[in-house]
Amino acid sequence: MAHDMRRINDDMAAYWMPFTPNKAFKSNPRLLESADGLYYTSTDGRQVFDGSSGLWCCALGHNQPKIVEAIRDQAGKLDYATSFGYAHPAAFELANTLASRMPGDLNHVFYTNSGSESVETALKIALGYHRLRGEGQRVRLIGREGGYHGVGFGGISVGGMVNNRKFFGALLPGVDHMPLPYDDRMRRSVGQPQMGADYADALEDILTLHDPSTVAAVIVEPVAGSAGVYVPPVGYLEKLREITRKHGILLIFDEVITGFGRLGYATAAERFGVEPDLITTAKALNNGSVPMGAVAVQSDIYETFMAEGGEGVEFFHGYTYSAHPLAVAAAKATQELYEELDAFGNVRALEGYFGEAMHHLAEADVIGDVRHLGFMAALTFNQIDRKPMSRSSKIFGRAFENGLKVRLSADHIAIAPPIISQKSDIDLIVDRMRKTISDVG
Ligand SMILES: Cc1ncc(COP(=O)(O)O)c(C=O)c1O
Repeated sequence: MAHDMRRINDDMAAYWMPFTPNKAFKSNPRLLESADGLYYTSTDGRQVFDGSSGLWCCALGHNQPKIVEAIRDQAGKLDYATSFGYAHPAAFELANTLASRMPGDLNHVFYTNSGSESVETALKIALGYHRLRGEGQRVRLIGREGGYHGVGFGGISVGGMVNNRKFFGALLPGVDHMPLPYDDRMRRSVGQPQMGADYADALEDILTLHDPSTVAAVIVEPVAGSAGVYVPPVGYLEKLREITRKHGILLIFDEVITGFGRLGYATAAERFGVEPDLITTAKALNNGSVPMGAVAVQSDIYETFMAEGGEGVEFFHGYTYSAHPLAVAAAKATQELYEELDAFGNVRALEGYFGEAMHHLAEADVIGDVRHLGFMAALTFNQIDRKPMSRSSKIFGRAFENGLKVRLSADHIAIAPPIISQKSDIDLIVDRMRKTISDVG
């Protein structure tokens, strides 16, 4: 058995874990047993504050009775219904609710099961829309360096995280990337950087190269999450909107992280006052309780499919689990709770406190940068001996031992507490991070 040495822990071998250093993990696993409120309980019985809202998804924390009951009731009533040629009433009710939460004319909703699927769906809608309008030459897609749009081939093509792309062949043709709008001038900004809107001019350059009439869509995360919480400079998204509109190019906001409260509003689009043509969501849509995503679409796009899509199926796309009854029930309960708890208002009220707390933490001399907006932040840790992730990965592991779950990405530690967190919870994050930073050194 040539690979014996690698089989550190045999009963963990069968599970090939996603986005995880499997060998390292299995030699020193971090195992979660249960969750309630803002805490996980680890299998060794420790209370761990959920400083990353699961994976940016459990905005209301865990074990929310209303969501739990909704899922339980639904499982006993209608466990599954296909959405191809059939439907269940709650799917329409939820779509109406979601449409009412979206800005402007984004009045139609296509259901998926994940952020990745929302992205693939949005890109396909964009291409289909242009073709139906007689502009089938618009085949190019433009993303951004550092962008994360899930793991489908469309998503990794428009995405800009090198490791997620380089192993997987030539990807989609006809894709180009804008630069991430960030440089040293913006370090340690409070909220949005005040300079840097001119990064949007790079889009004009790319369009000049390809000719704008060949471009179908531009996709960006309004705040880049996975790359390490990069907040858009004031005026940058507005400029992207202006340029795309001028050239008849669709603008897609990937709001899989920013959708439903992370920035204190239902969408980043609302917060920034910029209305894209499509918005992809997932995660906090139903508090991460059942896999689900949704793409919100401008009326003009939906109407084009209805008018030009022929007598039969207008859009040849969908998933076995689109509008899964359990996911829909959980989403309805979640959306009601957002209102009942004024959860988005809580972020607006406390984001200043949260931001200050992050800046205090970043005074540690091992931290080179801090970026934040709403209830999302990242601390960039200086490397030890110039080795990537050398310090941040230690911080990540030690934080868990100290009772704080955070998110690791490259040299960044992302902190994104549930949006119902109070000042005392933010204080607790600071205490546990401080201890962690001092333990790791
Ligand atoms: C902006 C963005 N898009 C897409 C995705 C992919 O979502 P999923 O993991 O649900 O496929 C993520 C996941 O973190 C994301 O942050």
